[in-house]
Amino acid sequence: MHHFDRIDGALHAEGVPLEALAGAVGTPAYVYSTATLTRHYSLLRAAADAHRGALGDALIAFAVKANSNLSVLATLARLGCGADTVSEGEIRRALKAGIPGERIIFSGVGKTDAELAFAIEVGVRQINVESGAELERLIAIAAAKGSAPAIAIRVNPKIGAGGHAKITTGGATDKFGVPVEEAIDLYARASASPHLTPVGLACHIGSQIMSLAPMEAAFHTLREMVLTLRANGHSVTRLDLGGGLGVPYHGQTDTPSIADYAAMCARVLEGLGVEAAFEPGRLLAANAGLLLSRVIQVNQRTGSPEEGGGRRFLVLDAGMNDLMRPALYDAFHDLVPVRPREGELRAYDLVGPICESTDIFARDRMLPPLEAGDLVAFMGAGAYGAVLASEYNSRPLVPEVLVDGDRWAMVRSRPSYEDMWAREPRADWL
Ligand SMILES: Cc1ncc(COP(=O)(O)O)c(C=O)c1O
Repeated sequence: MHHFDRIDGALHAEGVPLEALAGAVGTPAYVYSTATLTRHYSLLRAAADAHRGALGDALIAFAVKANSNLSVLATLARLGCGADTVSEGEIRRALKAGIPGERIIFSGVGKTDAELAFAIEVGVRQINVESGAELERLIAIAAAKGSAPAIAIRVNPKIGAGGHAKITTGGATDKFGVPVEEAIDLYARASASPHLTPVGLACHIGSQIMSLAPMEAAFHTLREMVLTLRANGHSVTRLDLGGGLGVPYHGQTDTPSIADYAAMCARVLEGLGVEAAFEPGRLLAANAGLLLSRVIQVNQRTGSPEEGGGRRFLVLDAGMNDLMRPALYDAFHDLVPVRPREGELRAYDLVGPICESTDIFARDRMLPPLEAGDLVAFMGAGAYGAVLASEYNSRPLVPEVLVDGDRWAMVRSRPSYEDMWAREPRADWL
């Protein structure tokens, strides 16, 4: 579901023609749709609210890592969304965007002392502790501050899932969280400390998960743990169910529905009397963004087919430094011409201009004829797109644009070369 549609044959972001946007801001550029972000948030909100009995007043905490643009965060903040953060920088972004501390969760496998102290100072809702070592550091830091922050223990349920091995986080050998038995011990340790307020458990088993079954199994593990902890005399009032729900990148229709997901969560948590938290990233943002790019040229390879002859390389002005997901974990992004030309479909290899063999987005994509100067859009690029961008090959950081109906704003500008040089003062002996 998104609000990128064709009007008179040309692709628009809501009411704004992408051709006009490209003329105004140049390419490559990310373009986000407010209506799509709002729709995705509202669907999850309604689904969670439909199960208040089992999920309580559930917090939806957007995973800032998926898209940390301040205007995107401010859009979600106005809807009442919270933030799942993994660094001081992300906490600062969430606060700056208007998300109050009590709606911010601080997760992450390697929080520094300074970051933990900062999280306590700004009063985040809860710190998700991922190891015994972190717990001990946090006790010391909280003691020094005379505070007792709310914490959850992140459990590694030994159930990994996700669209690719590199985005699986809940498997036994993954670095995230602690095994069940250790989590029970850590909870007791935290309860015994006057400097912590243990409130619950958390888990996040992976990303782009296309079946509810592994999540359901992991949440059952959490449920059993709540019962064990309570039997041991501990108070448990919150369960953080992480993010991870898959989204349709290929136009699939078999992705789990938000309503089914919420219903499954409610089934598992029924009767526990806990407040749930959700940490969706991709679900809210992926299909709310596209990467607009222009064809530099089409390189037609000569020679025999065995030697690659006949291959047609569509060389784009967007590269893996702008959209890294295909190079990083073989991710699929649909590519659509902004104004398709008439003619038979033909096979293209989609490549960027970067001097790396991994700078290839896809092979043998069947597309209408394309020529130098044509505009194209990578769809589903609103999550883990701009946040992973770099200035590799000294290409200025890709800008971001937010559309809302007929209006648009540049919400991260493209740095000039002078801006780039200004960040690199020359050593005074040179
Ligand atoms: C702890 C945690 N929560 C939430 C998310 C968001 O995942 P997704 O974008 O798949 O919803 C992640 C992603 O890695 C994560 O590590």
